[in-house]
Amino acid sequence: MEQFSNNFREIGATTYLSPIPTVMLGCADPQNDIKPNLITIAWAGIVCSKPPMLSVSIQKSRHSHGIISSTGEFTLNLVGQELGKAMDFCGVRSGRDVDKFEALGLTAIPAPKLSAAPAVAQAPAFLSCRVKQIIELGSHDLFLADILQVSVADRYFQENGSIDEEAMNLLSFVHGKYRKVGSEFGFFGYSVASPEALARRQGK
Ligand SMILES: Cc1cc2nc3c(=O)[nH]c(=O)nc-3n(C[C@H](O)[C@H](O)[C@H](O)COP(=O)(O)O)c2cc1C
Repeated sequence: MEQFSNNFREIGATTYLSPIPTVMLGCADPQNDIKPNLITIAWAGIVCSKPPMLSVSIQKSRHSHGIISSTGEFTLNLVGQELGKAMDFCGVRSGRDVDKFEALGLTAIPAPKLSAAPAVAQAPAFLSCRVKQIIELGSHDLFLADILQVSVADRYFQENGSIDEEAMNLLSFVHGKYRKVGSEFGFFGYSVASPEALARRQGK
């Protein structure tokens, strides 16, 4: 045992989990005259399937934190390579200083099941979310939210009705760098799938 642990170097208790998504969260508070805004979020993840729920962690200092706390809703917009620069920009400029939709030439569209938060028309897909609970953790507050609806752009539907996620050219975040999500490597349960199932799913 001892001899194997020598093969690792301890780099500290850091946020090293990888890869993680990097997405654009859409929010707005029209009742208080606050325009649609986008914030880049990497601290996001699915936390439950029934009911479908996710979490995002946001610092109190962010403009978006106040918006979501008051409206209780947001969208999470998936990001492909085409939106990579916009996603980075939304993570380094605040909506307090700049209208990010306008600056990036992005279009805010209504999101199903939500009344205030916009989605990004150019995104390959987005999730409509309603906040259920806010938990103060330390640097970040965790927003636990129900996923009320998922909308996928028409252009990613194949003739058989399945969704071509590979064509979305999605990006991930790995310790400070954006990485392209590659081609399919396997599928849920492929390690124990029958040869027939493998042939059907993977053309092998
Ligand atoms: C790749 C990336 C990921 C980020 N993830 C988060 C996050 O998960 N939570 C957070 O509070 N800020 C995160 N940020 C920082 C905010 O996106 C950034 O402070 C943004 O300018 C805040 O916008 P706002 O003030 O308009 O809300 C991230 C930034 C980048 C570039």
